[in-house]
Amino acid sequence: AKPRVLVTRSIFPEIIASLEAHFEVTSNQSDEAWSLEQLTAQLQGKQGVFTTGGDRIDAALLAACPELKICANMAVGYNNFDVDAMTAAGVLGTNAPDVLTETTADFGFALLMATARRVSESEHFLRAGLWKRWRYDMFSGTEIHGSTLGIIGMGRIGQGIARRGAHGFGMQVIYHNRSRLDAATEADCRARYVEKTELLQTADHVVLVVPYSAASHHTIGAAELALMKPTATLVNIARGGIVDDSALAVALREKRIAAAGLDVFEGEPSVHPDLLTVPNVVLTPHIASATVGTRRAMAQLAVDNLIGYLVHGQARTPVNTLVQDRV
Ligand code: GLV
Ligand code: GLV
Repeated sequence: AKPRVLVTRSIFPEIIASLEAHFEVTSNQSDEAWSLEQLTAQLQGKQGVFTTGGDRIDAALLAACPELKICANMAVGYNNFDVDAMTAAGVLGTNAPDVLTETTADFGFALLMATARRVSESEHFLRAGLWKRWRYDMFSGTEIHGSTLGIIGMGRIGQGIARRGAHGFGMQVIYHNRSRLDAATEADCRARYVEKTELLQTADHVVLVVPYSAASHHTIGAAELALMKPTATLVNIARGGIVDDSALAVALREKRIAAAGLDVFEGEPSVHPDLLTVPNVVLTPHIASATVGTRRAMAQLAVDNLIGYLVHGQARTPVNTLVQDRV
């Protein structure tokens, strides 16, 4: 019999078709919002699950689904997985790295530019019919070319943003990361390693691309915002919870920093009410990897991981290590 796989959310029809060539597939193509109880019920008897970043996989769920062998996440971030619990339960987790790197770096740069040059704020002004006369100081923003770009989290996406800034816009790039990059990668990105405090004090634009974990919770809070230049901008394309959104709303309202661009939020899809009312923030609904080609490639990588593991015993992009011959 074919292994049984659950797809928790609506996805490209051709992705369902490619799963059906190998598996007995149950999918939530109607995109109903499942409760934890409904998800648990749907997972009964399934060996694999195609998850998105919103599907929490923890010890209690795993205990209720003893046949489960693999959770394939259609996201590079996998903070929705309790990896230790999965490893203890003998369940493989996989993510979707690499295929989204350049697309996501593009969006990080788009958000930086929209933030620095006040694209959203000025469009709202125009749409509201408030543009009566030109003025010399209308929506003056912050310089991008030649400025100092500070990147916190220098993984593949952070490196992509660094290259765009250094090679495309002549920016001085500084970065902070858990570990320093090797000299060749630093040279390629034209990026200089600094401590977090120096980065916050020096950068004209700070971009956050760190994975979420207990250790990175509120990487940027009131104390860090206070270190930044009053003219600086902050961009978060990493995860909600990396920034203390409440402290950020205060800093934006009081103009302690110039502006922010946010694609991710604490408790999304709800957004801190104060962020919705301050003008100097660009807000997007977690779309940094959203091009058709990239979303297709991320979904296909999740499919390849399911087929790789459940059919051939080897996943392409595992996030934990199991004895892979147990399938
Ligand atoms: C999106 O947030 C991802 O982790 O891929
Ligand atoms: C993280 O995995 C990244 O690609 O930046």
